[in-house]
Amino acid sequence: MKLNILFSPIVADELYFTGKTSVVIDVLRASSTIITALSNGAKEVVPVATVEFAVKVSGGMFGGQTLLGGERNTKKIEGFALGNSPLEYEEKIVNGKSIIFYTTNGTKALAKAKFSENLFVASFLNLKSVANHLLSLGNNVEIICAGRNNFFSLEDTVCAGMLASEIKKKNKNIELNDSVNSALALNAKFGKDILSMLKLSDHGKLLIENGFEEDLKYCSQLNTHKLIPYYTNGVLKALKNS
Ligand code: MLT
Repeated sequence: MKLNILFSPIVADELYFTGKTSVVIDVLRASSTIITALSNGAKEVVPVATVEFAVKVSGGMFGGQTLLGGERNTKKIEGFALGNSPLEYEEKIVNGKSIIFYTTNGTKALAKAKFSENLFVASFLNLKSVANHLLSLGNNVEIICAGRNNFFSLEDTVCAGMLASEIKKKNKNIELNDSVNSALALNAKFGKDILSMLKLSDHGKLLIENGFEEDLKYCSQLNTHKLIPYYTNGVLKALKNS
């Protein structure tokens, strides 16, 4: 089993992912929000790459049971029901709903990896569950850090390193390359106190400035969720038995 980590989705094109097993990580906050929405009973999350497309599909498709969710510059988009704070995605709001979801980096990374044979979403919330599932599949894995505006982000890389470390603990034959060794080193330095690392990160600072400090606390929780979102036919659903 080989692991590879992409520090930004920009380093590969769509066809690179064809037939691969991939995991998208956007700790702040798209991955954490998707995991929360599905855990709270959302029927599906439909990631879209533009706001215009979100508005278009929310009209007629998905039986009218849709909510528009997501952000631009961390804030809720005009006309959308929900922003990108995982705390908004409560059971009473999302249960049974299809969420049409646009975010600056997370949904773009998902769109990039859409030709993967298996495509999952991970964050600190469901890290162990994703690691165990990847081990059970036994395939080579591409871990895609959503990053920030096509640049590197500390929080996604530390989460990728922690995921690799969890897999490595249980399978000593994992082949490690430069990307994985680098992420493992960052996890060793910053992974012991996830909340402090999030507060130190560029995106964490921006979220605090915009009044979302509670989201950092929520997203820093480790292994609180078992649910694994997986991508099928253009939508994210809860993987059965996860
Ligand atoms: C993203 O996908 O860019 C992020 O989730 C942005 C945010 O924190 O809202």
